[in-house]
Amino acid sequence: MLFRNYCAIISNFGSAKIENNMYPLKRNRRLRTNESIRSLVRETSISPNDFLVPLFVVEGKGVKEEIASMPNYFRYSLDLLEKEVKELWAMGLKSVLVFVKVPDNLKDNKGTEAVNAKGLMQRAVQTIKNVCPGMLVMTDVALDPYSSYGHDGIVEDGQILNDETVEVLAEMSVSHAEAGADFVAPSDMMDGRIMTIREALEDEGYINTGIMSYSAKYASAFYGPFRDALDSAPGFGDKKTYQMDFANRFEAITETQMDIDEGADIVMVKPGLCYLDIVREIRNEVDVPVAVYQVSGEYAMLKAAAEKGWLDHDAVMMEQLIAMKRAGANIIASYFAKDAVNLLG
Ligand code: PBG
Repeated sequence: MLFRNYCAIISNFGSAKIENNMYPLKRNRRLRTNESIRSLVRETSISPNDFLVPLFVVEGKGVKEEIASMPNYFRYSLDLLEKEVKELWAMGLKSVLVFVKVPDNLKDNKGTEAVNAKGLMQRAVQTIKNVCPGMLVMTDVALDPYSSYGHDGIVEDGQILNDETVEVLAEMSVSHAEAGADFVAPSDMMDGRIMTIREALEDEGYINTGIMSYSAKYASAFYGPFRDALDSAPGFGDKKTYQMDFANRFEAITETQMDIDEGADIVMVKPGLCYLDIVREIRNEVDVPVAVYQVSGEYAMLKAAAEKGWLDHDAVMMEQLIAMKRAGANIIASYFAKDAVNLLG
């Protein structure tokens, strides 16, 4: 019977494909027999090269504070940041994404501190580049950590002003480039900011400073722990007039395409896990590198479930990270980067 099927395959090209795919000639479990064969046919893998490590920086000396809603994740003062960066480098983690927690007395509605050449972000970039010149440094560009309202832009009459904000973001980007940032990463979702930032960088001679745009960034409740980390929760309202409605898909493609046309070198989808359909969609549409941000709430969920003994931390972490790559992400910004690399050995 089997032999007859086989003959049918070689004698009849038209039906060969179908017959060859039929049980029992084709048994899918053959390729799952043991780890050697599974690893031989595995389509997706993960390595330190894939990660972008978010770093939270605070003023002070000798500070390493755990973030309450992000177990085992810390804010560092500049002196301890040096140590952390060296450790990352030694682990093969070669890219960081820097965020700063700004003291309340320096917050206003104009982003004054954001463009201070001696500001915490600017000093953090210099510190990292000093101790680890090879480390790729990306900086967060948005006003929320600097805003007395906790919004990503300048506020007037309860509205977030677009064009006025974009001007400050461009100035901020130049200031980060001046400090030595390799990439600026605008996370604000104002319209037209990529073009204005690109032009400002060009005008100031920073032609090799890249832009990683948070292009499809959704208004998400998963950002809660991050806002704890930076004390940057919006003081009124929400971010739905600038971040995207999570019910929308086509809009993500439009946003991303516009950012590429305006000069983005890398585009990003954020958050991660709930948005992997968007990652795949974007990966299929565009030809620049696509990043995904596995955000603070995703980190917190797994840490909490693991603490309770309800989920296997390492196994679920790896499954999620692989899923992000399988969905098409070329770069993963993740608070799990160190955990994952440690596990990879
Ligand atoms: C703010 C910013 C946020 C994150 C990165 N940049 C929060 C927000 O938009 O409110 C979230 C990151 C995370 O949750 O891990 N521009």
